[in-house]
Formats: sequence, structure tokens, C-alpha cells
Amino acid sequence: MSDEPTKVLLSERDIPTHWTNILPDLPGEPLPPLSPQTMQPAGPPDLTPIFPMGLIEQEVSPEPEIEIPEEVREAYKLWRPTPLFRARRLERLLGTPARIYYKYEGGSPAGSHKPNTAVPQAYENAKAGVRKLATETGAGQWGSALAFACSMFGLDCEVFMVGSSYDQKPYRRSMIETWGAGVHRSPSQLTEAGRGQAAHETGSLGIAISEAVEVAATDEGTNYALGSVLNHVLLHQTVVGREAMAQLEMAGEEPDVVVACVGGGSNFGGIAYPFVRRALRDGAKTRFVAAEPAACPTLTKGVYRYDYGDTVGLTPLMPMYTLGHDFVPPPVHAGGLRYHGDAPSLCGLVKAGLVEARAYRQNETFEAAVRFARTEGIIPAPEPAHAIRAVMDEAEAAKQAGEERVILFNLCGHGHFDLSAYDAYLSGTLEDPEFSESDMRDALDRLPDVPVPA
Ligand SMILES: Cc1ncc(COP(=O)(O)O)c(C=O)c1O
Repeated sequence: MSDEPTKVLLSERDIPTHWTNILPDLPGEPLPPLSPQTMQPAGPPDLTPIFPMGLIEQEVSPEPEIEIPEEVREAYKLWRPTPLFRARRLERLLGTPARIYYKYEGGSPAGSHKPNTAVPQAYENAKAGVRKLATETGAGQWGSALAFACSMFGLDCEVFMVGSSYDQKPYRRSMIETWGAGVHRSPSQLTEAGRGQAAHETGSLGIAISEAVEVAATDEGTNYALGSVLNHVLLHQTVVGREAMAQLEMAGEEPDVVVACVGGGSNFGGIAYPFVRRALRDGAKTRFVAAEPAACPTLTKGVYRYDYGDTVGLTPLMPMYTLGHDFVPPPVHAGGLRYHGDAPSLCGLVKAGLVEARAYRQNETFEAAVRFARTEGIIPAPEPAHAIRAVMDEAEAAKQAGEERVILFNLCGHGHFDLSAYDAYLSGTLEDPEFSESDMRDALDRLPDVPVPA
């Protein structure tokens, strides 16, 4: 056996004690969210009907570091710290001089990075005496993560699952129910928002969010939980990047480029923000690449505007790249990436040129995922398959330049519940759904008329 290490491991003692809050480091003046009723800046009182104060404080905190509660670190021990792998076999296949590292979040109970925020969200809600959480889920990763976290802290949980994913991934539903939560196909007949969107058979994250927010806003004992986009969600995910930074240091490496897929931005923010802080504060020369689907190209084709987080217009408006809140993306298998907007912090970094965005078509991401599985072993979820596609491009660029670049990416989930998509790819029937520019333009015409400062 060679003494070349394949993975870098930390012990439970090394689970980070703090999360990284990127807000104080962001370039430019912060733009506030706006109340959907008044179009004026929304403050904590606008959020108290659906979020507990502990999370609202994290959402708006100016502190650069926020301590992770002991109970949360204790629950993190179930799967954290996660391993950092060196992708030696993939490097050999690609014949690249680049050294490729990946953090693997698929070993969590739900099989992705989502429990990193589900646990602190359930914890803060339980501490505030909330009885139940309502949420949406795309591919089912977030819904299962929240169902798991609610079972840890004795909360009820109700999940609205995007119709196309509900049909494609029946075993995600079984997981959600095994952890004791209820799950409905969205659009459903249970909410006014769902009934009003019944014509959109396949559903979308935006519609499912409207349904869950409506349930939380109209039931005293129920709060809402979001799996992405908001500051506190990205904050919780930085546990990934902080561990990765420690592990790369142990390996004696500095990343030249950090790559992650983006649906709403929590996986990206999680792995990248500790490194973004270092680049902004210490002038580290790291590049950052965000990979998204060509069928839902928020960062590469959207406009930077104030928009709602959901389809119906119940959430505060956020400054972000958007395809329009009622744009319904085609049903790609990477259900977690079918979202019309992205986290305001990430959008600000893209706008400032600090993060580069790239869009990939479905078949090229599965081609990359299959090559990854056949060399590294792990079968990736369709979402991180986008990041793997981008990593292969980076590895090729390093080869062309003849440079030994260090590439880090987050393999944020396994694809064990996505095998029908792999079946379609392997049998040559996987489609490359087209993004419709004209549908986007129509949706953009319906954006609220609120200017964002240049
Ligand atoms: C495995 C996986 N990756 C990525 C995402 C995209 O969300 P985010 O950009 O917030 O990480 C999801 C969302 O459900 C997911 O399940």
C-alpha cells in the first residue's frame, strides 16, 4: 500500500465552534430586504410571525463569527466532521496536473449538506416553544433533512414537495415519513397558494415555498423553515468550509479555485465563504466558481433586481439575480437547483465580480457524474454533478496551462435516490430541457417595480 493519503480526517473535537458570517465582509452598502406589503425595508418584526428570534438575530447579525450552540455541535457529531478526499483516481483519468480535493457531505443522515442548517433551525424553533415547522422541498433533500432534524428536537414537520420531484423520487417521501413528518405534492389543494397554481402541474420551489409560508403564517404554533437563500442558512453551512480549510492546511495545500453548485446558494456559501473572507481580508488569490443548470440559469441569465422569494409574493423582497418569481423552470433532475433566485450575499459577490458563474446542460453534468462514480466510487446527486462538470473544466484548464492548480469542491450529496435519472442517462433517453428566454422575459415583466441602486 502506498503512503499517499486519500482522505484527510478530523476528530469530533475539531467540529468548529463558530460559523462564519460573511455579511460584514461583503462589498458595497448592504441592501435591506423589503416588506411585501409596504415595499419599505423589512426588519425583525416582519419576520417574527414565521421565524424564531434566535434565527432572526443570526439573519441580521453584524458579528463576523457566531458561536455554534453546544446542543447543535452535539447533534453534528452524528456525521461531522466530514471527510476531505483527494480525487487521485479522477486526476489520473483526466491526466491533469491539478490536485483535486472534495469535501463529502453525503454521509449525513439525510445524505446531503442540508442537515447542517436543519439542525440549528429545529433547535432554535424548539427553544422558542414552536410546535411545528412547515417547509418546501425540491429534490427532497431539504425536506428529509428537516424531517430528521425535527425528530431530533421533538417538533412536528409538514413538507410541500415540488410535484415533479414527488413523482421522480418516491423514496425521498418514504424517508420524510420515516422521520415522522407529513409530505404533500405541490401544488396541493391544501392552501390558497397551491390551488391558485394548480395549472403548473410539475410545481416549482417558488410555489412550494408559497404553500409552506401560508401554512406557517396562518397557524399560531407553526413556523416556517427555509433550506437555502437566507443569511442564517448560508451561515450554518459554513461549518463545511471551516472544516475544509483546516483539512487543506493539514494537507499543506491552499485552494486556487473553489467550486460548488448553486440552487439557492447554501452549498456554495457553505464551502466558499470562509475562503471568500480570506480572499477579501488577506488578499488570497483564490477564484470561486458557481455552477448552475442551463435550464434554470439564474446567475448567468437572470437580472439583478428586487424580487420575492416565492411565486405568490408572500415573502420579503430580496435584491438578487432572478428569472422572475413566477418563472417555472423545466423539470430537470437536479430538483434542488430549480429556483428562480439566489442568496442575496452570493448575488452581490457575483455582481462584484468575485464569483464567476457557469451554466451546464443536464446531459453533460450526468456524463461528468458517471466518470466521477467510475473513478472515485461515490454516485453524486444530480446537483453536485454540476460542480463536477465545472471541476473537470478547471482540471482541463490547468492541463492546458501546465499548472499544478489546487481545486476544491463540495460533493454536497449522494445520488442514491436519483437512480431513475441515471437510468435515463445510461439508456440515452435523458433530455436537455430548453430554457425559455421568452418565458423569462414574461416573468420579468411581472417583477415588482422597485429599483435597486446601481
Ligand atoms: C444535494 C443538493 N445540492 C444542492 C442543492 C441546492 O441548494 P443550495 O444552493 O442551497 O445548496 C440542493 C437543494 O435541495 C441539494 O439537495
